[in-house]
Amino acid sequence: MTKITVGLIGFGRMGRYYLKEFQRSEAFEVVYICDIDAECRELAKRLEPKAQVVANEDEVFADHSVQVVALCAMADSRLQQITKAIAAGKHIIAEKPIAATIEHEWQAVEMAEKAKVMSTVNMYLQNAWYHGVMRDAVDRGELGELAIMRICHMTPGLAPGEGHEAEGPSFHDCGMHYVNLARWYAHSEYKTWHAQGIRMWSWKDPWWLQVHGTFENGIVYDITQGFVYGQLSQQQTHNSYVELIGTKGFCRMTHDFKTAFVDIHGISETQHIERPFGGKNIDRLISEMAQSIRSGVRDPQMPAFRDSAIASQQSWLMLEDARRNDLPAIGTREELEEIWEHRRNLKDGYGLLPRNNKNV
Ligand SMILES: NC(=O)c1ccc[n+]([C@@H]2O[C@H](COP(=O)([O-])OP(=O)(O)OC[C@H]3O[C@@H](n4cnc5c(N)ncnc54)[C@H](O)[C@@H]3O)[C@@H](O)[C@H]2O)c1
Repeated sequence: MTKITVGLIGFGRMGRYYLKEFQRSEAFEVVYICDIDAECRELAKRLEPKAQVVANEDEVFADHSVQVVALCAMADSRLQQITKAIAAGKHIIAEKPIAATIEHEWQAVEMAEKAKVMSTVNMYLQNAWYHGVMRDAVDRGELGELAIMRICHMTPGLAPGEGHEAEGPSFHDCGMHYVNLARWYAHSEYKTWHAQGIRMWSWKDPWWLQVHGTFENGIVYDITQGFVYGQLSQQQTHNSYVELIGTKGFCRMTHDFKTAFVDIHGISETQHIERPFGGKNIDRLISEMAQSIRSGVRDPQMPAFRDSAIASQQSWLMLEDARRNDLPAIGTREELEEIWEHRRNLKDGYGLLPRNNKNV
């Protein structure tokens, strides 16, 4: 079968993950890599010598032989790239968020839903095996009726002022994945939310936030997210889990970023499952896209731009609510500077920034 040709735009941390997965896949061939940064282009030439490596995205959009674009630059360039891709008839795999503002995200949704091309966005938790197993248990009625969702994700990851802070505080940048996940499990839309945040290290924005509330169908949830989990601890760790509690049974998962663990305590089954964690599940996302392109029918598992726009908008609303609810500040700028310095020198840790050629 002939390979589907891809132009990869943005060759930072995520772009490099995509390249690895496209190279592993039988279905795709990366024919362009585009980055505005010269060091990233040097690295791209080394890692994929067969691809054309360019600085200007328009070369990718102008080439009729490119079937798919993978948009892995930052959100501020995404709407423009989505517009160009649709005009050029190219399928789109986009990183989240799909644009830099809520208004632009909804413009992207509208365009994509009218367009003939396939589009998807890397809301990677929808493609995680452990959430698939748990949603299946819910949908089969193993828990009775789903009533309560408890979600927590705290790591010593990106500190304020690092990485993609332009895309919002950690509850938007990372938290939108969990906001999306709760809606995906609930099969319903958010009805109420009450958020409490804290401005750790006295940063202008909350870097930890907890929100609880209800969905239209009555399911209640709480979500806790923060990149505030011991950045200066001698030995770093994290705490990440999802618990789904029904009227008759429950299930839960956790992971250590290497292995994910699921426990199902259903009415007719008790299971403990351990399997490799699976990272950002890009292999699954691109395989859904390949299947959709080849069959001409959109794979219903594939996350949609609409899912991402709703999760992004909802996480902004939750952040706004946290600002209305006291929002205390604890810690100092000096502590934050110590964290930045510490993370600059870390070789192994959580959400480390790419160091271009040096760390690959
Ligand atoms: N789905 C997820 O779980 C997940 C995880 C991390 C990051 N992300 C998202 O992925 C995107 C990229 O994040 P990252 O961590 O790889 O960032 P990064 O800074 O490591 O990489 C971005 C790259 O894009 C390049 N770039 C910027 N504008 C460009 C343009 N117009 N044309 C070509 N290249 C351009 C930059 O030079 C840089 O190399 C962000 O929007 C981020 O929110 C998603």
